[in-house]
Amino acid sequence: MTPDELKKAAALAALAELQALAPESLIGIGTGSTVNHFIDALAASGLRIRGAVSSSEASSQRLAARGIPLAGLDEAAALPIYIDGADEIDHGFNMIKGGGGALTREKIVAAAADRFVCICDASKRVAVLGRFPLPVEVIPMARAQVARAIARLTGGEPRWREGFVTDNGHHILDVHGLAIPDPRALETELNQIAGIVTNGLFARRGADVLLLATAAGVQRHERQSATESSR
Ligand code: 5RP
Repeated sequence: MTPDELKKAAALAALAELQALAPESLIGIGTGSTVNHFIDALAASGLRIRGAVSSSEASSQRLAARGIPLAGLDEAAALPIYIDGADEIDHGFNMIKGGGGALTREKIVAAAADRFVCICDASKRVAVLGRFPLPVEVIPMARAQVARAIARLTGGEPRWREGFVTDNGHHILDVHGLAIPDPRALETELNQIAGIVTNGLFARRGADVLLLATAAGVQRHERQSATESSR
């Protein structure tokens, strides 16, 4: 199977996670090529939901084009589920996200959801996060200062994603050369640096369910402490 076929398999498997939802439910939708497959599958499934809270302009456009109603976070008194991909996920269900640059809104919508379902192909599963450069969204005027602070803190090499502007009007630094054995601690430390809007570590709010597509089929893994809040 190609990587794209694996992404599609993970996305299709996520439909089963919606079966128990009431028809008036809103769901949270992430961003990326795996989520694009999910949006297409959702539109074709005939499943009845009230609509979706989107994490990016790109996903909003795709949802609208497929006839799925959009809702703002303000309208979502409850968000039972959030479906999104990841750039890396470790065995504790901590993730690196933001390869598509949508990390800030992804983190916001994920934080509002009761359950985070991560859909990805098996290449995204790692023992230790960091091989994928860690995206960090920064206020443009602080970019160089933040880069120096991140280099001092982590020993990694922040590189400006030149020419890319986020949906929020900010810039992205991709931090290369990291190994992140304690993602929750690093996420917290990065949050203290003035000028960082969001870092791409999703550890304080990790995934609850992982649908991992392998050549042998889609595996469903549930985080053991999924019923306890670790936020
Ligand atoms: C976007 C993200 C995506 O979830 C991540 O980049 C994975 O993307 P894809 O499904 O295309 O591999 O965090 O900001």
